[in-house]
Amino acid sequence: MKLPDLAAYERDGFLVLEDFLPAAECDALQARAAELVAGFAAPARRTVFSTEDQRHADDRYFSESGDAIRFFFEEAATDQPTALALNKIGHALHDLDPVFDRVSRRSELAELARALGLDQPLLLQSMYLFKQPHIGAPVDWHQDATYLYTQPSTVTGFWIALDDADRDNGCLVALPGGHRGPLRFRRGGGRLATETLDATPWPAVSPVAIEARRGTLVVLHGKLPHASTPNRSSRSRHAYSLHVIDGRADYPADNWLQRPTLPLRGFA
Ligand code: FE2
Repeated sequence: MKLPDLAAYERDGFLVLEDFLPAAECDALQARAAELVAGFAAPARRTVFSTEDQRHADDRYFSESGDAIRFFFEEAATDQPTALALNKIGHALHDLDPVFDRVSRRSELAELARALGLDQPLLLQSMYLFKQPHIGAPVDWHQDATYLYTQPSTVTGFWIALDDADRDNGCLVALPGGHRGPLRFRRGGGRLATETLDATPWPAVSPVAIEARRGTLVVLHGKLPHASTPNRSSRSRHAYSLHVIDGRADYPADNWLQRPTLPLRGFA
């Protein structure tokens, strides 16, 4: 594996590695996600995932999904079939599904995590993100450490484009260097409440759009402010996102994501 540009990662808070995941593995994840969706009996009441409101705040279907494979709908979904109405699948695909397990534990990813300083990596959370044509919602500015909090902060995001991602279909946007500022919020307290840790505004730097061809891996520092744009196109923007923490850090018992039935594992 080509060594990552650690100086760029320290400067910007993200790395873009093109052609990281072979096309056959992108195909495998998309096919497996389609199978999981086909096997999901959509409930009468759909659980929406939205970063813009707290409607799911007390929804146990969401809050108890840390050790499960569950399905969340787009807020704007109306009469679309389930396969075109889902926002995401989460949050333990990497441990509970053999295809996602295999791709999540590729040696290239393990080596990269080690190179980034994750000495005792634990694969905490995975999400299959659909960003559906026309209705894929934006994701507000946030730092992943808000949701996946450790002391000290160690969470690192590995985001893989399974479709070409651009400004029209909802690519990532980031504030370069913003990871060097404080963590602003923490989602915890068991009931998905958000606590303000530091009221410093987002840094006044121009956002950059991280356009990514299929198979590209974007590494996101846990404190990097980032967002994604809505999908206004007729194309999907599927992505697979895996979050890794370091087992040397403390993982508080009141973080929203808990895995009472499923011990955390590394890349092995
Ligand atoms: Fe994020």
